[in-house]
Amino acid sequence: MAHASQKNLEALADQETTGHEWDGIEEFNNPLPRWWLWLLYATVVWSIAYWVVYPSWPLVRDYTHGLFGYSQRAAVLNEVEAARAARGELGKALASAPLEEIRKDPELLKLALANGKAAFGDNCASCHGTGATGRTGYPNLQDDEWLWGGTLEEIYQTIRVGARAGHGETRQSEMLAFGRDGMLKREEIRAVANYVLSLSGRAFDPKLKLEDGQAIFAQNCAACHGETGKGNKEMGAPDLTDAIWLYGSSPEQVMATIHNGRKGVMPSWEGRLDPVTIKALAVYVHSLGGGQ
Ligand code: HEC
Ligand code: HEC
Repeated sequence: MAHASQKNLEALADQETTGHEWDGIEEFNNPLPRWWLWLLYATVVWSIAYWVVYPSWPLVRDYTHGLFGYSQRAAVLNEVEAARAARGELGKALASAPLEEIRKDPELLKLALANGKAAFGDNCASCHGTGATGRTGYPNLQDDEWLWGGTLEEIYQTIRVGARAGHGETRQSEMLAFGRDGMLKREEIRAVANYVLSLSGRAFDPKLKLEDGQAIFAQNCAACHGETGKGNKEMGAPDLTDAIWLYGSSPEQVMATIHNGRKGVMPSWEGRLDPVTIKALAVYVHSLGGGQ
């Protein structure tokens, strides 16, 4: 063993040392591997470049901003600003575009539907239901039966001015209270109700003559509901020949409608919602399936 280590020392005698010596112990000058050094130099250069262009050193009040002036907060603010600008631009386009154009422009349509849906949940769902399917007295807005018309323009108008609402241009017309106001007797109401139900194939009392009911209808009801009971959108008078009933289709419910009349009130939204939201609502409601 002693021999071997002696040999090792001889082999090492030529090696360069740092010149340091402690009690006979010398220090070899072993250079670091080249690749390691280059890596070190590269990181030094990188860090200096980084200090120059990016924010890095904290100062007492501030920090070095770097040539690029980059800041994450500014970057986020920029993005938010860009999004707002985009929405603003689109929002302006939505405000000025005619209804039909909104429907044809995919981007405007998307924005209108999103806005319309949100506004519907906030303002309309309480009466028309979250799915706009309505309930007794509040029309279903998904089907293709319309009291006041189902084109974009008509829907827009209904939302803007309402029906039997306070608005100066509100949609107006009133089904009379034929029983309560003494225009028709109880038997006549029974007969005409029977006839009305027969229009959609569901007369309820075979003992009543349909002709009697039909005559009463022609005299008292056709002016609004039409000769054939198909309804009239000018008057908001519903089609009585289909299976869609706003106030119920049992004999009692139909007789109650004729006895008391109905005065469904749809609020007017002009002045309560901004014009762009009303437009968006019209587009949204029109898109629900029944739009014409
Ligand atoms: C207070 C209850 C109420 C609220 C809130 C309400 N509506 Fe109505 N709406 C009605 C009633 C009742 C009718 C039926 C009016 C009638 O009988 O002529 C109606 C009718 C309509 C019609 C016409 C349907 C047709 O067949 O022609 C549309 C469209 C409509 N509403 C949309 C809306 C929108 C959009 C909102 C929200 C901005 C809204 N409604 C909020 C009660 C309401
Ligand atoms: C002045 C116009 C007018 C006249 C006349 C009129 N109606 Fe109506 N009728 C309406 C309107 C408007 C409605 C919808 C009422 C509402 O939404 O408040 C309606 C609703 C109804 C409904 C409810 C339909 C449903 O979907 O639930 C029935 C049934 C009905 N009318 C039958 C009659 C009969 C029968 C007569 C004649 C005895 C008559 N109406 C006369 C305007 C009229």
